[in-house]
Amino acid sequence: MAEEENVKVAVRVRPFNKRENGRNAKLIVKMQKNSTMITNPSDANETKTFTFDHSYWSFDGCKENKDGYFEPDPSHKHGKQFADQNKVFNDLGRGILDNAWAGFNTSLFAYGQTGSGKSWSVFGYGVNKGIVPILAEELFKEIDAKKDSGATFEVKFSMLEIYNENVRDLLDPNGAKKKGGLKVRQHPKRGFYADGLKEVFVSSYDDINARLEEGTVNRTVASTNMNATSSRAHTISGIRFVQRAKNDAGKEMEKKALLNLVDLAGSERAESVYGKYLGYGNYSERVESTGAQGDRLKEGASINQSLSSLGNVISALAKLSEGHSARVPYRDSVLTKLLQNALGGNSKTIMIAAISPADINYDESVSTLRYADRAKQIKTKAIVNEDPTEKLIRELKEENDRLKHAMKSGDISTEALQDMAGKEVLSKSEIDALKKEWLAEMKANMKANEKEAEDHKKTTEEKVSEQKSQDSEKESALQKVLEEKKSKPHFFNLNFDPQLSGRLVHIIQKSETEIGNQKGKESDICMVGPGVHETHAILRQDKKHHRVWIKQAEKDCRVLVNGDAITDEVELFHNDRLVFGSTQLWVFQNPKEKDSDKKKYPPITYEYAQEEIAAKAGVKVDSAGGGDVALLQEDLIDVMPAVEEANSISEELDKRVKFEIILISPQMLGKMQGTKAEVCVKMKNLENGTEFIWPKEKFLNRLYLMKEMYNNYEEEDDWDLPEEKDPFQEDVNTDVNIGTVQVFLQPIAYMVEMKEQLEITDIKGNKIGVMNLEVAPCNKKGKEYTETDDMFVDSPEELVGKEVHFWFKIVNCRGLPNKYTDVHCKYRVYLDEQDITTDKISLTSNPDFNHKKMFSFTPATRQLIDYLNTGSIMVQIVGKQFIRKSAVAQRKQLTTKEMLKGDRGAFSKTANLMNGFQMNGRVVDPQKQSIVVELLLMKKTQARLQQRCDNMKKMLEKAEDLGRHGVSTRVIKSFFNAHTDEQIRAAVKQLEEEEDDEGYRSASPLSQNQQSSVCNLL
Ligand SMILES: Nc1ncnc2c1ncn2[C@@H]1O[C@H](COP(=O)(O)OP(=O)(O)OP(=O)(O)O)[C@@H](O)[C@H]1O
Ligand SMILES: [Mg+2]
Repeated sequence: MAEEENVKVAVRVRPFNKRENGRNAKLIVKMQKNSTMITNPSDANETKTFTFDHSYWSFDGCKENKDGYFEPDPSHKHGKQFADQNKVFNDLGRGILDNAWAGFNTSLFAYGQTGSGKSWSVFGYGVNKGIVPILAEELFKEIDAKKDSGATFEVKFSMLEIYNENVRDLLDPNGAKKKGGLKVRQHPKRGFYADGLKEVFVSSYDDINARLEEGTVNRTVASTNMNATSSRAHTISGIRFVQRAKNDAGKEMEKKALLNLVDLAGSERAESVYGKYLGYGNYSERVESTGAQGDRLKEGASINQSLSSLGNVISALAKLSEGHSARVPYRDSVLTKLLQNALGGNSKTIMIAAISPADINYDESVSTLRYADRAKQIKTKAIVNEDPTEKLIRELKEENDRLKHAMKSGDISTEALQDMAGKEVLSKSEIDALKKEWLAEMKANMKANEKEAEDHKKTTEEKVSEQKSQDSEKESALQKVLEEKKSKPHFFNLNFDPQLSGRLVHIIQKSETEIGNQKGKESDICMVGPGVHETHAILRQDKKHHRVWIKQAEKDCRVLVNGDAITDEVELFHNDRLVFGSTQLWVFQNPKEKDSDKKKYPPITYEYAQEEIAAKAGVKVDSAGGGDVALLQEDLIDVMPAVEEANSISEELDKRVKFEIILISPQMLGKMQGTKAEVCVKMKNLENGTEFIWPKEKFLNRLYLMKEMYNNYEEEDDWDLPEEKDPFQEDVNTDVNIGTVQVFLQPIAYMVEMKEQLEITDIKGNKIGVMNLEVAPCNKKGKEYTETDDMFVDSPEELVGKEVHFWFKIVNCRGLPNKYTDVHCKYRVYLDEQDITTDKISLTSNPDFNHKKMFSFTPATRQLIDYLNTGSIMVQIVGKQFIRKSAVAQRKQLTTKEMLKGDRGAFSKTANLMNGFQMNGRVVDPQKQSIVVELLLMKKTQARLQQRCDNMKKMLEKAEDLGRHGVSTRVIKSFFNAHTDEQIRAAVKQLEEEEDDEGYRSASPLSQNQQSSVCNLL
């Protein structure tokens, strides 16, 4: 009984978040019935429409009821349209439940960029329960109602996380410690599964809820200790539902359904996380220093393989459903293996595409909608999983006999091996390894079968009570914490992912409590992370008066209280924010104090704490500075803690690298418009003195890799990486930007030549030297026009449709810093797609380039003329950093910690940086170059006008001398355009030779207006 149907797709748009509200984001999404419309913020005429099974409007039209639940607000114009959690459940969750009862497997995916609302829909927050908790609640309600039907019901729950192709069991507290995670194996019948995944019996909604909580706490521990970074991990919750009942013939039947509920990692496309850096026009080359080739290797590691494979699988399946042939690459990633059934097999499948309503997320939202559009083409074929119990048991036994036999004979066909490897040609050693793998898989499959057979022997009651006894210890420990939380001082955690905030609690039990990492000795409260010492801080408690104080264990232990670094013992108050090292972020709670003072305490979020730290460092987010300043400040708040963390890791791993935030003005990035400075990070190699500037995105990406390295180091794994993969390293041979010169091309638009000495500015806007260059119009053979050729035009318009040729010459640079080799200039003109480069010159402050290149445009289009008139060429001076061996040898003796000493103020520096940037950060006025050009043109125009004036005067004098009444247009024109002595003499001659009043008399009064060919001399 197979039912083929399309994947059901729903889109949901969330409300603006605080940031979007703060920066006055524009709403670009509209919904009508089941259509979703999205408008390009930079082109109001471009609206894309997508149609899905459901389009859920959760942007506005709701109100918060007294419990905190967001319900539709009938008084709002969108009240009717507003989709609350219950509506989404009724549409989607209810169907999943019905499927489960009918014996169909069902899968639910939530897809969308970070922060788009995936977890909100799947799990929900607090009373705003998402699909999973409501589904669980309803399932048990229905089971309870059928208790006396004679059937038995079993529900098992599992939860796993995929991060970096590792599968972690979230219900196994030691799961995080298992190296490499769980193995994904293939079962001939069940398909792929995570070997050894814990599936626990749950017999009530509370049970399942406790398990969800447990899984989330385990995710939080991992995330807090940096084992994983939640927004890059996929979470799969599994509910296995089994019903057993006698059929009409009296035979016991077993109906099974597996529900996979998948909260995918943030879908930011690899190119877009990294793309600003790779594809921002010339951005990378301009600011950047890195050869993209080597770097892609490094970044490649962090790109979410599972997510890109999922995209490929969906595309392939969509093609198949259109009747094309395609190979579906399930085997390419752990996620797609585990979801093979959900996507292309025995399952009913639903996808929720979560999108942001805001203009700044346009690209990501469109990409999510396109993804969803493709997914809706996919067809799956679900079957009712129902069999007689006795048949199932028999089959398990037969299957195991078969496996035993196969293992004994070691027989596996070449095709099967090729299939396992995903390729045809296999070497002997590969074959041996695959055979080993195959044997392990056989063993695991046998074990899984045996377990299932065992399972059949036990009654449901037995299983439940077994589970209960296993859990009782854990449960009572949890109960104790919850109880103590109400009265004792404690900390709770803050996490970037709001789902994970407040999940970890440390109760302060003793009079003196030690906080430290687990290396060396066991601390009372263990925190792991960069910058946390073995013994990091000491808490003192006066239990009688419910007061708590904190101090550092040693001088260099970083402890921030409400954003301030402490140096002495300080008292803690309810709701104080604490940072240990660089990543451990906690909120202190003192219930007794809170109860006694009746003050109103604001809720503390991760953003609140980060903004506070930044504010103490001088970066305040306020909208007073205007949108761009607010955006810049937000970027800074993101990057500041990241830089702090990277420096901590560098110090601990002795990576000899220091990071620092720098701000770069838009002009320096070669952007003609915009006033927002870019937050970049300078990476300085402390040993050899080389420096590289990384755009924010690149730095954050690298940080993921640094964290991974740190994590391996923490776990005492093989952590160090070869230079080409080390996120702390940059190839010293990569070109770095020394400075830039902006050359305005306006002179060409007027056919005037320009010979100038222009200032070279470095990335911060400081003048670091000068460049002598020339731009000269010429004829098509390359002969430069001289003054006497007088090609000057009054308006660039005149050049449209004509030929334009010019030389661009870089003569030399003077006064450059003398520490670069292979110094050369590169630039692009108009629509060039490739850089034009000069020769390379080494180790001189005054390189002579003597570079010249001719550019020809035949004919010149209006667009080109506009470009010449208003555009510019950015000439970049680039080179490699020269490393002085003697300095390196000296510093080799020092550790990163010693080299960083007294120079760790990434935070305090940031404040200076802001001030510096706003007030006097720009030493060279970027407008200066264009003023130079304008002046040149003005002089030229001025001279031209002067000459015309002189000519006119001369003409008047001559006409009066001759006693003329009027002068013909022809003669006036000759005077007007004459600019050499010879031409003036010719004009005078013309005037003398023409008859007085020529044409004047022939002009009738009527036609005078239309045909003003004669000028009256008044
Ligand atoms: N429909 C909604 N109504 C109100 N708030 C919402 C809604 N959807 C999302 N939010 C809020 O937006 C924030 C981000 O949502 P959520 O955590 O679900 O994002 P996510 O897609 O799971 O992100 P990540 O990829 O980082 O896990 C949360 O603070 C959440 O409370
Ligand atoms: Mg989430």
